Amino acid sequence: MVKIIDGKKIAEKVFKEVKARLRRVKHRPKLAVVLIGDDPASKIYVNMKIEACNRLGIESEVVQLSRKEAEEMVEKEKSRLEREIERLDADETVTGILVQLPLPGNFSSDKIIAGIDPEKDVDCLHPQNLGRFMMGTGRIAPCASKGCLRLLDEYGIKIAGKEAVVVGKSKIVGRPMSRMLLARGARVLSCDKSTKNLAQCTKRADILVSAAGEPRLIRKEMVKKGAVVIDVGTTREKTGSKKKSAKGKLKRGLIGDVCFDEVSEVASAITPVPGGVGPMTVAMLMENVVILAENK
Ligand code: GUN
Repeated sequence: MVKIIDGKKIAEKVFKEVKARLRRVKHRPKLAVVLIGDDPASKIYVNMKIEACNRLGIESEVVQLSRKEAEEMVEKEKSRLEREIERLDADETVTGILVQLPLPGNFSSDKIIAGIDPEKDVDCLHPQNLGRFMMGTGRIAPCASKGCLRLLDEYGIKIAGKEAVVVGKSKIVGRPMSRMLLARGARVLSCDKSTKNLAQCTKRADILVSAAGEPRLIRKEMVKKGAVVIDVGTTREKTGSKKKSAKGKLKRGLIGDVCFDEVSEVASAITPVPGGVGPMTVAMLMENVVILAENK
């Protein structure tokens, strides 16, 4: 029987740990979240992060700007968005800053993230923090991959000596995930949805992590019997049942990269979507917020 890896349950455990650490922290944490544009998925994710802060009694601030407002040049070669980040960097009460990605329009997310004070970069995406993370000397790690690793540990899934395959090469998940599994002693194969003979690669995995953002990419025949499957995909799709919300809009369901039902027939353990990696990503963000405040 396949084991369903319960991200909600483990996220609750992390929340309890964060709560206990918050009681001891000297510098009160405050998370600032920057949200640009009107992408509905980004709005939902930001709301989830703010709700988590509220639950834990962590102060938060949302800086919400339209794309046009954010792009407005307030100074020679400086946009309003860059100005806002400078303001948050300088604000002593703010201990953590997160810029919700992807950024709309012509913004370079690399350039914008490089403007965040590395001491306040809760996502661990600033080049200085990513460099430390790569060397294994950083205090924090990117939230989603940290969440996946914690799930494996909580369920007693050994990593050392295993063959791990990571589908997806994003800076936020795919690349840090590969690095973390390698650091824990797995042999790691990194690929993405356009990899030639993808099924041949994924079929080798004892631990398969899919972070490609491609709904239903991973089918049963691509998975080895007994593999552990971690689904980081979160695509919002209109549900087939044409359910309508109270406002009469078509409801959007959250779809993972993995065909859950059929892959469950061959996997030994699997994360569902929703209720798997998603809640863990938010919980790990809260952990990063408290770590940065502890180090103030
Ligand atoms: N967009 C999707 N996931 C993330 C994340 O973990 N952090 C940020 N900043 N943006 C995201």
